[in-house]
Amino acid sequence: MLTQIKDIVSNLAPRLIEIRRHIHAHPELSGQEYQTAAFVAGVLSSSGLHVEEGVGKTGVIGELQGTHLDPKVLAIRTDMDALPIQEHSSLEFASRIDGVMHACGHDLHTTVGLGAAMVLSQIADQLGGKVRFIFQPAEEIAQGANWMVKDGVMKNVSAILGVHAFPSILAGSVGIRYGALTAAADDLEIIILGESGHGARPHQAVDAIWIASQVITALQQAISRTQNPLRPVVLSIGKISGGRAPNIIADQVQLLGTVRSLHPETRKELPQWIENIVANVCNSYGAKYQVNYRQGVPSVQNDYALTQLLQSSAEEAWNSERVQVLPEPSLGAEDFSVYLEHAPGSMFRLGVGYKDRMINHPLHHPQFEIDESAITTGVVTLAYAAYKYWQNQLQK
Ligand code: NI
Repeated sequence: MLTQIKDIVSNLAPRLIEIRRHIHAHPELSGQEYQTAAFVAGVLSSSGLHVEEGVGKTGVIGELQGTHLDPKVLAIRTDMDALPIQEHSSLEFASRIDGVMHACGHDLHTTVGLGAAMVLSQIADQLGGKVRFIFQPAEEIAQGANWMVKDGVMKNVSAILGVHAFPSILAGSVGIRYGALTAAADDLEIIILGESGHGARPHQAVDAIWIASQVITALQQAISRTQNPLRPVVLSIGKISGGRAPNIIADQVQLLGTVRSLHPETRKELPQWIENIVANVCNSYGAKYQVNYRQGVPSVQNDYALTQLLQSSAEEAWNSERVQVLPEPSLGAEDFSVYLEHAPGSMFRLGVGYKDRMINHPLHHPQFEIDESAITTGVVTLAYAAYKYWQNQLQK
């Protein structure tokens, strides 16, 4: 079967490169993936999949039945949105849309998803059960997975697989990770309410700017002294605003930040932990405060058995030197985790780095580029893993 899949993929390769370049040249922002979705739906229908459009706003799903009428479904999720970045590459298929770019490889993900759908449709008579391809919008704003789940895409799903481009691994290789892959990312707003006064007479005022600086310092110090260092927490204040003039003491400061963590139990405690620190500082100096902690996406926790499935599929397909078990998670976020609240799953990292280049630019960089040989590596890995998933299920 592996040889058959590889043959189909090598025949499809020129078409897949064409597809990827078309999507790359026509990027669309989160929630506005209308043309991408229509294009995806067209490719899926012409490959004989059952297609639904307008799922989760601008998402698409395509389904392949497989030979057994098991109600269970294996889902394969890819994302379709681009970023508000002006592309600075010399590619002939560089973005034709001003200020919008596929700088996170979602053009590659969509292509890999389509490629896997095309391959599996050609071996549908040997595919054990149903496979649902989820083409998700709005990953970059961490909304799309929620929209898709609300529209029922996880119905009957017993397992879900995902893929993300990874420039620090060379194209042709894949990265597997057991357990935590990405962090939970939550939003934090802290408002410090002081009392205005003359800059010359601080004792008659409550200086919200100075107290805000104490709050930031206290939070960073408390992380190093009161959080378990083996359970990382990163708190970054990315925006601070307050005050009116150089000689007026500010009565209000707003701090906006992001809070990243890997362990679900740690994450649960963070809102109260932050509030206590803010309260202690503000109470000491007579300020009032508000803390608004908004939970964003959870951490991606890869399921053991499904990660093993990805690893063994990749190792059978490729020389095992091309399969890396990644020692570390990332503190980036990925809304693939939202699906994992409904079924076990695993996401792997697809190497896209060029072998012969000094620099492979990171994700979200205006010169981010992928080595397109990654497409076939991704398609073979996913398609074969899906085939094996159903083989394993039928043997149970
Ligand atoms: Ni991404």
